[in-house]
Amino acid sequence: MKELINKIAEEILLFTAGSHNDAEAFRLKYLSKKGIIPTLFDDFRLLPPEQKRETGQLLNSLKVLANEKLITLQEAVKGEEKTCCPNDLSLPGDALNRGSRHPVSLLINEICGAFMRIGYTISHGFEIEDDEHNFSLLNFAPDHPARDMQDTFFITPDLNILLRTHTSSVQAREMQKNRLPIRTISPGRVYRNEAISARSHCQFHQVEGLYIDENVSFADLKQTLLYFAREMFGEQTSIRLRPSYFPFTEPSAEMDVSCSLCEGKGCRVCKYTGWLEVLGCGMVDPNVLDAAGIDSEKYTGFAFGIGVERMAMLKYGVNDIRLYFENDIRFLKQFSSIY
Ligand code: DAH
Repeated sequence: MKELINKIAEEILLFTAGSHNDAEAFRLKYLSKKGIIPTLFDDFRLLPPEQKRETGQLLNSLKVLANEKLITLQEAVKGEEKTCCPNDLSLPGDALNRGSRHPVSLLINEICGAFMRIGYTISHGFEIEDDEHNFSLLNFAPDHPARDMQDTFFITPDLNILLRTHTSSVQAREMQKNRLPIRTISPGRVYRNEAISARSHCQFHQVEGLYIDENVSFADLKQTLLYFAREMFGEQTSIRLRPSYFPFTEPSAEMDVSCSLCEGKGCRVCKYTGWLEVLGCGMVDPNVLDAAGIDSEKYTGFAFGIGVERMAMLKYGVNDIRLYFENDIRFLKQFSSIY
């Protein structure tokens, strides 16, 4: 029996496995209930007592050897099994969980795209601004109500550094660079000290537009905005300009587009007027040009400011602005089909 045990030990040492099946065959052959080693233990019981001690030790060592070998074989085939052949090649692959762009980013990209196609560049300013660029250079009088604590988040006690309240601050920065003509749009986040509700938020996005050259007229502004409205809301869209007031433009206007939902007939979204307000605009006030060091006798220009969330609410039919800032995955996922 001792010789038999030694022979089996040799066999076990030389055993190799290329797959999980080989390792399993090893287990069945040597270690399963009816395998070689348990059978040897059965035979062992019949041995005369004087042989038991020595043979028993050998048999126990053989069992330990076989168990260790089995673990080694199983470890060796583990990695290969995974990387090499999956069992069923006809199974469908794992579904990829595709992310989606945020609707505000989608709309900013769309607005920028429309203006880039007619030769506008993209420019950026700073979300933390100084009074000069957010207000003074834009012709806000020192006691203008928009500087009031109600509207502006001031950062320093002297009220000089603040979170910009509009992207018009980028206009001031672009004009100061004094590289004319200017034809640029500036998307970005702005902040206002306002109560959060379905209609207003303390942070939102704007896209600012600025065009300065010789002989730029109000007719150019109107034509540019008509082009833009049709790019956004479709070929059938018409626009109307209502007189308004902004410190940095003269004359100033607010632009409405014909309601694309009811085609101007009147519905809940347009409050039965047939029109939707989408942006503010006007001819750059000569004071603003002069403050930036641009000769207002020679140059004229127009500017406009688009509220992105407001436009997104109209375009996507989402009428609670808070949804744009909560990052609820159920909301965001609805935009995964748009690029
Ligand atoms: N800055 C204005 C706002 O935040 C929007 C605006 C109006 C921008 C008229 C302009 C403009 O450039 O010409 O309400």
